[in-house]
Amino acid sequence: MNTNVWKVDKYVDNLENNPQVVDAANFLRKNEVVALPTETVYGLGGNAENDEAVAKIFAAKGRPGDNPLIIHIADRSQLSRFVTEVPETAAKLIDAFWPGPLTIIFKKKEGVLSEKATANLDTVAVRMPDHPVALALLKSCGLPIAAPSANSSGKPSPTKAEHVLDDLNGKIAGVLDGGVTGVGVESTVIDCTAGIPVILRPGGVTKEQLEAVVGEVEEDAALKDQSARPKAPGMKYQHYAPNAPLYMVAGPKEFLQKLVTEKQAEGLRVGVLTTEENRGFYEAELVLSCGRRTELDTVAAALYDTLRSFNQGQVDIIFSEIFPNEGVGHAIMNRLEKAAGHRLITE
Ligand code: TXA
Ligand code: MG
Repeated sequence: MNTNVWKVDKYVDNLENNPQVVDAANFLRKNEVVALPTETVYGLGGNAENDEAVAKIFAAKGRPGDNPLIIHIADRSQLSRFVTEVPETAAKLIDAFWPGPLTIIFKKKEGVLSEKATANLDTVAVRMPDHPVALALLKSCGLPIAAPSANSSGKPSPTKAEHVLDDLNGKIAGVLDGGVTGVGVESTVIDCTAGIPVILRPGGVTKEQLEAVVGEVEEDAALKDQSARPKAPGMKYQHYAPNAPLYMVAGPKEFLQKLVTEKQAEGLRVGVLTTEENRGFYEAELVLSCGRRTELDTVAAALYDTLRSFNQGQVDIIFSEIFPNEGVGHAIMNRLEKAAGHRLITE
């Protein structure tokens, strides 16, 4: 299949009628799948009401069928078509954070969305992305769009159109290239279907920000306890892994360098995932910085691109610094733990 690349300047006016956006929207209406930029990561979009379109999303990504998709909308009024009710907590969160990196789980109205999109669950995950190109595309096609991250299953999520093409070229109808995404980690997923809201996946909106709006918020037990079964089906899968094994290292940089030197003595080529503050310190085959430790937003924005960059170099093993597990650091550590398969070396 020929994969179209539609370059779009996200700052121009009247994006909804931009020829590139209209072209992509036409493919969506024909139940083809196209990748689109959002403020978090690129998504792979398809008509959420059509089984054929949704099947194409799963096939292109190689995604397990038991992992439901997030439905993207451009207007709050679209909710009533496929959601039974909007609880008060959800309404407050919508007012505060939509459009934005917050996905809310609702009870699903039967018979509207493709059952494949929701993996036969009686709930549905919905978000309104805060990206002019995504919103223009959603408005232009007028459909609710199911969109997981536009990577091959298991790979780091794409933050640039090039990442999408690296994984999915020839497998999808096209990609709307709106440049680099902003937040860099995916949306926070929160379940508002019963009582106290529960965070199922940490992401772009922090627990502190949520609590400021709705009071107490819980976290799915599986986020702390690896043996617990996650409430978001996708959270049980290994994810974000570069080609070489990644180990998180807790301790001073001298300790990390000692590990590097030991592996080099065994004949291995070693990669280091570090930050601007420390990049000059390490001596290894490939030292990559993913942002500034003092501004964790920069780390969130560059983490996946950096993980992918290790695949371009020739390394046998990667050691990574770790980050404070609070604010956006919580989402960063959640993704890093998955990328490392939870392997942590402590001094
Ligand atoms: O930022 C994002 O959320 C990006 C952009 C493209 O919008 N999308 C994204 O989608 O990260 P995906 O498919 O990679 O992750 C969706 C997560 C999965 O962990 C999935 O299991 C969970 O949301 N999920 C979807 N529907 C659910 C439901 N009804 N109940 C619980 N978890 C659900
Ligand atoms: Mg994903």
